[in-house]
Amino acid sequence: MGIHRHSVVACLVILLSCAGQAQAQALSRPEALLKKMTLDEKLGQLVQRAGGRSKALNSKLDDAELERVRAGQVGSYLHVAGAEPLARLQKVAVEGSRLGIPLLFAMDVVHGYRTIFPVPLAMAATWAPESEERAARVAADEATSAGLHWTFAPMIDIARDPRWGRIVEGAGEDPYLGARMAVAQVNGFQGGNLLRPGSLMATAKHFGAYGAAIGGRDYNSADLSERTLQEVYLPPFYAAARAGAGSFMAAFNDIAGVPTTANKDLLRGLLRERWGWQGLLVSDWGAIGELINHGVAADRAAAATLALDASVDMDMVGGVFADDLKDAVSKDPARLKQLDEAVLRILRVKDQLGLFDNPMLYADKDREARELLSPEHRQAARAVARQSIVLLKNDNKLLPLRAPDIRTLAVIGQLADDGLSALGSWRAQGKAEEVITVLGGIRSALPKGVGITYVPGADPRSDDLSGIPAAVKAARRADVTVLVIGEDYDLSGESRSRSSLELPASQLELAKQVLAAGKRVVVVLANGRPLAIPWLAENAPAILETWMLGVETGHAVADVLFGDYSPAGRLPAAFPRTTGAVPFNYSANPTGRPADPDLKKDTVRYHDLPITPQFSFGFGLSYSEFRYSELAQSAQSVDPGGRVDISITVENTGGVASDEVVQLYVRDPVASVARPVLELRGFKRIELASGARKRVTFSLTPEQFAFWSPRGQWLIEAGRIDFWVGASSTDLRANGSFEITKTHTGTAPAAALPTRVIVSSN
Ligand code: BGC
Repeated sequence: MGIHRHSVVACLVILLSCAGQAQAQALSRPEALLKKMTLDEKLGQLVQRAGGRSKALNSKLDDAELERVRAGQVGSYLHVAGAEPLARLQKVAVEGSRLGIPLLFAMDVVHGYRTIFPVPLAMAATWAPESEERAARVAADEATSAGLHWTFAPMIDIARDPRWGRIVEGAGEDPYLGARMAVAQVNGFQGGNLLRPGSLMATAKHFGAYGAAIGGRDYNSADLSERTLQEVYLPPFYAAARAGAGSFMAAFNDIAGVPTTANKDLLRGLLRERWGWQGLLVSDWGAIGELINHGVAADRAAAATLALDASVDMDMVGGVFADDLKDAVSKDPARLKQLDEAVLRILRVKDQLGLFDNPMLYADKDREARELLSPEHRQAARAVARQSIVLLKNDNKLLPLRAPDIRTLAVIGQLADDGLSALGSWRAQGKAEEVITVLGGIRSALPKGVGITYVPGADPRSDDLSGIPAAVKAARRADVTVLVIGEDYDLSGESRSRSSLELPASQLELAKQVLAAGKRVVVVLANGRPLAIPWLAENAPAILETWMLGVETGHAVADVLFGDYSPAGRLPAAFPRTTGAVPFNYSANPTGRPADPDLKKDTVRYHDLPITPQFSFGFGLSYSEFRYSELAQSAQSVDPGGRVDISITVENTGGVASDEVVQLYVRDPVASVARPVLELRGFKRIELASGARKRVTFSLTPEQFAFWSPRGQWLIEAGRIDFWVGASSTDLRANGSFEITKTHTGTAPAAALPTRVIVSSN
């Protein structure tokens, strides 16, 4: 097709004049603003202050604080909320400060703002990223209606040691599952575009290996190989960066001696330069000053320079950038340039959120009143809560309970009526009195006429066993006992690591006595981490893992107990047999002496314990049963750029409508470095009516087998790949293999890449 000569000339003229205009308007709004800023005003943008003392919420700031805002000494507040008070505060910044730069308001809205959803570990147990996304959307709608712009979530640290209290905040042990949940939350919070009304800027945290804290002790050093870092801990972060997370938070801890807050290679080198992410990087609470404790900075000025050099933009609460950076940047033009970059990144985020055009965007009291704890939000929380429940054991189909067969029911356990514990760690504006507890849920589900007794029995917080006899008496008299035991809200979360994964002593004692006395006893576990429960696993006929399910806990548990909903949650992290068996991970490397349950010695195992976990990764029972059949694959080999489709039919043969989570695992059996014995590379939660069948197709590409080579690049080696489709990492139902034809390099962490899944009726 020919193009006329004079039309080419006309195009050139247009292009040139556009370029001229563009030059005249070349400065973006943040850039133009930067030019007008004094050094103090620049430093002020880097400052994030807490509304309240410590972490308590306070949006009504005193005069001295407001004076700081007027003087342009603050860029952001955290732990503030409320449409009205935040509008007043924003007005001070916009109308009272010289340049009128709006403030960013932030909070840890982690699993809900007022409508509290299940804790993130529980939401990961849904294996339904679409549910995570919905939960994050509801949280964003509520939080933005209360004036917030920014949440410190999702927490996407991989956690392979359940002693670590913060395992409750993330998606568990697996990078592939973790990456899917990370993306779902970023999309949910941000709604795809920061400018969209109701968009809450997400923070991927805590970059990059906070979950690898040695011994599971919070804040502790991590010391791990570059391969493990790249393949296991970083993929959810890569996925979150690609999904457009507006902000990242640097972790408190050090990796092999380099505190992350000062880790230039990781922050500036990998995150910004290699991954190309240009969002707002915030420190964790006071972490810049803590560089002194880490022993890499002699004083606050040195700490400030290290953090700025590593490309940390905002100083959460520490006041180090505010007080101790000025000297360095006034003396050194290179530092000043780094400061300008940090300021620009902060201003850009404010611009992207639309705050320069409408700083009062989220100051709408009426919307706030409508959104918080709306009936639809409660409904959504109930739907996600019941999806999170994992059925660990169900001997002789004790569950579901048939209400008509019950005349008397005993509910036992202090946790059965503990609204606060049901909310879990990071409760934002959740209120214990708004929680439907397990007891409340059971009461509202039971038909009238059924006698119900409630006895607290024993409190997980105390060693007092004096309430147990009354519990035993109630269990003895009842047709059915629902025994709710586990951890209270204060046993998991930040700075809540435990040296033991056993049930608190009072809970185990209560269980032993009630199980000995009661006729049909269902154990409902409530906890924020995988526990070691060998006694229960052996002796309880039925165990439901219900984590901490948020504001709709009781309804969700009752839905499952009475069979209105068949449980289909799957463990996002294995339950060990004993504390001494952690860390344990299904996706371990093979050894020269592979674990073989039949070989009694000289293999990789403990002398006194089976090598398997109590309940494995991906495990969970159902009220129904499923048959996997007709495995097919589209090709026997795949070239770079190609794909292999793996299809399987899943049929609900158990007579009860239920979801099933179809899981795809892979292994590269021979490579230049040992590859894990199994890796999750696809999953899909599907709904199946009784007798229904569905065909699930997973599409794999060679890039999903890239590993971190000793040369520091993603490498895909030619050779055989084995795969399995099944119901858990230890219930593999069908398998096959294919060849990757050529060795080539990849660009991204394999676990970060999503497997396309198509479900068709069949
Ligand atoms: C936690 C972060 C949190 C911050 C603000 C810190 O102690 O590590 O996860 O976002 O506090 O509350």
